[in-house]
Amino acid sequence: MKPALIAPSVIAADFGYLRGDLARAEQGGADMLHVDIMDGHFVPNITFGPDIVRKIKSLTKLPLDVHLMLSNPRKFITDFYEAGAANITFHIECDDKITTALHEVSTFDCKVGLAVKPKTPLSAVREYLARIDRLLIMTVEPGFGGQKFMPDMMSKVEEAVAWRKEGNFRYDIEVDGGLDKWTIWPAVRAGAEVIVAGTAVFGQPDAEQAIRDLRDNAAQAVAHLKSPDDPSPKV
Ligand code: DX5
Ligand code: ZN
Repeated sequence: MKPALIAPSVIAADFGYLRGDLARAEQGGADMLHVDIMDGHFVPNITFGPDIVRKIKSLTKLPLDVHLMLSNPRKFITDFYEAGAANITFHIECDDKITTALHEVSTFDCKVGLAVKPKTPLSAVREYLARIDRLLIMTVEPGFGGQKFMPDMMSKVEEAVAWRKEGNFRYDIEVDGGLDKWTIWPAVRAGAEVIVAGTAVFGQPDAEQAIRDLRDNAAQAVAHLKSPDDPSPKV
């Protein structure tokens, strides 16, 4: 089993001090940066657009994992690709035709992902699994950082692992929302491979150390089948 990848979410960075925060993420050993795009329609919040993503790209060597929380992602696929996205993920619940949007992303040198909100069953994405590089399982209702992790989403992660094996698919499994050095345990043990963390990185006094803590705990979670506070014997 490969170590989980850590994707600090820029939404929680200090935008008045973005250069410094992004440098910290890099120095702490982040594997990519997660970039949340919200349109105020698909979710009740607005973040930023392609121009800011281009600026972020100019400040970091890390790949940009772009998460589109947009009702009509197709309208902006080209813009976010040109702004520097290494991966573009949009929601299965969006209003656009999924096969068309998947095709459009795949015409670029860019990976493509599908995201699933907590109330949407994983079966909604099943027919598209052969076509995606990343499956994003939301562990909070999308829209805001700093929310509480939903442990009941771990059954979806387990299901995604099983379906990938069954279908011999290539996607990696990403979890997003409320991940911290504790909740990373159940997430990694369920099979999550990309860990998005906003508050747990940029909301901490030492973002570099916070990334190292996440990485260490993810590695521990893989190494042990039981968490440290679980008194039952290790298997
Ligand atoms: C929620 C976003 C997440 C979130 C992560 O809509 O997709 O990326 O901001 O932030 P934390 O880690 O604070 O939950
Ligand atoms: Zn996100």
